[in-house]
Parts: sequence; C-alpha cells; structure tokens
Amino acid sequence: MRKIAFINAKGGVAKTTSCVNVGAGLALRGYRTLLVDLDSQGHVTKSLGVQAGEGLAELVQGDASLKEVQIEARENLFVIAGGGAIPGVKRLISRRDMRSELVLSEALEDLRGYDFVLLDTAPSWDVLNVNCLFYADELLVPVSMEVLALQGIGDFLGRVGQVQRYREGLRIQGIIPTFYDARVKKSAEILEQLKRYFPEALWPPVRYNARLSEAPGFGQHIFEYAKRSNGAADYARLAERLVKGG
Ligand SMILES: Nc1ncnc2c1ncn2[C@@H]1O[C@H](COP(=O)(O)OP(=O)(O)O)[C@@H](O)[C@H]1O
Ligand SMILES: [Mg+2]
Repeated sequence: MRKIAFINAKGGVAKTTSCVNVGAGLALRGYRTLLVDLDSQGHVTKSLGVQAGEGLAELVQGDASLKEVQIEARENLFVIAGGGAIPGVKRLISRRDMRSELVLSEALEDLRGYDFVLLDTAPSWDVLNVNCLFYADELLVPVSMEVLALQGIGDFLGRVGQVQRYREGLRIQGIIPTFYDARVKKSAEILEQLKRYFPEALWPPVRYNARLSEAPGFGQHIFEYAKRSNGAADYARLAERLVKGG
C-alpha cells in the first residue's frame, strides 16, 4: 500500500485537481485507490459529486469507525471526506501531550486492501500537514508556473527536510509543474529553472486546460468529463508514472 501526499504550502497550485485525477487514473487502471481529504474545504468529495457524511474528523475524534468513513465514489475509487469539521482535528492534535505528530497515522493504522492511499492537503504548514508528513512515504509537489510559486518551493522543501531527519523513509517522489502553457514565455522559463533545480525529481508538466477546471462543477473527474482532453492525457501519464515509480 503506497501512501502519497499531494502537498505544497501554496494554494491554487492544483493539489486537489492532481489528487483527484491521478486517483481516478489509478482506479481506471484497476488499482484500488483511497483519497483522504485533509482540507476543510472538502473539495475532494465535491469534485467527485459524492455526498460527504462522516469523514476524517469523525474518525480521528472516535465518533466513526474506519469502515464507516470510507465512501465508495467509483469502482476502485474510495474517499475519506474532509470538510468543515477538519479544524476540530487540528485542535485535537494540538491538545495531545505526546506524539501529537502521529494522530493521523494512528487513525489510519488499520487501513487495508488498497494499492494507493492519496492524501489531498490544505495549503498551510500546520499540525495536520505535519501529521501528513509522518504518515505518507512519498510526496508529490505540484508547482504552478509562476515566479512566486517557484520561490515558495525552496522554502517548503526546506521544511520537509526538517521532517525527513525524523522520517528517513519520506521522499519527494515528484515535482509536478502545473498550469503549463508552452505559448507563454514565463511558463517555459520557469520549467527550465525547475529542471535545473530538480533534475531528478521533475515530472512531466500538466498543461493549462480549461476542462480540468470545469469537471469538478459537474462532479466528474477528467476521464469522465473530457476523456480526450489534454488534461486527461496529462493525468493519465502521471498515473502511469506513479505506477512505474513504485
Ligand atoms: N491544468 C489546469 N488547467 C486549468 N485549470 C486548472 C488546472 N489545474 C487546476 N485548475 C483549476 O485551478 C484551480 C485551483 O486548483 P486546485 O486543484 O483547487 O488547487 P489547490 O488544491 O492546490 O488549491 C481550480 O479551480 C482548478 O479547477
Ligand atoms: Mg485544494
């Protein structure tokens, strides 16, 4: 069971879009996949058009069992919902005296039967995301093609480095350039810089594609909403890459 977080302290870089569509791509290939939403916005369930009942908050607080919180969204694709109750999880973590970084790991300890567990995170550096870094083994870091996003990434990876001192197994599996537009000079320049900084970890880019932003409004992933789009092609390629990189 591979445990992979989509994470970056910056918002709007396509963490959720990538988590949902890579997850859908894996599920369509026959891999049993679970998406865990750590964000209070609850976008993962909304993107897939499923009703969020009890989710991660109820699980961590002991009000629901692991079995109860796993929602089947599609064949092979399951979700543990985030949403409005997530701040309660952070309060609970903050109140813990000992090993507070392991609350999420303990809550998900008995998960079985998945090939992939993908975690979607909020754009922050808080106790829940630190918990996420103690649960996940691999990180996928979406970076949008903007100068500020590029500057933020060094800072973010520095913090990940601090956690890696305690968790040797934690590795950056890939940096994913997002909103790539070959016609825009800035896009090409930033991609060049990313190549220079991360020659090994850099993954192929996800192109700017309006279909990707429309799909969640219909409660569909990209392979349902526009399976011949560039977005579908790019996320199919990333899912494939993730399978091979195991
Ligand atoms: N490649 C893309 N092309 C066009 N729009 C995109 C693309 N990826 C994401 N989006 C849109 O950009 C916005 C931010 O993406 P989102 O996945 O919510 O970012 P994050 O989870 O990092 O905050 C959303 O409206 C999403 O639909
Ligand atoms: Mg998000």
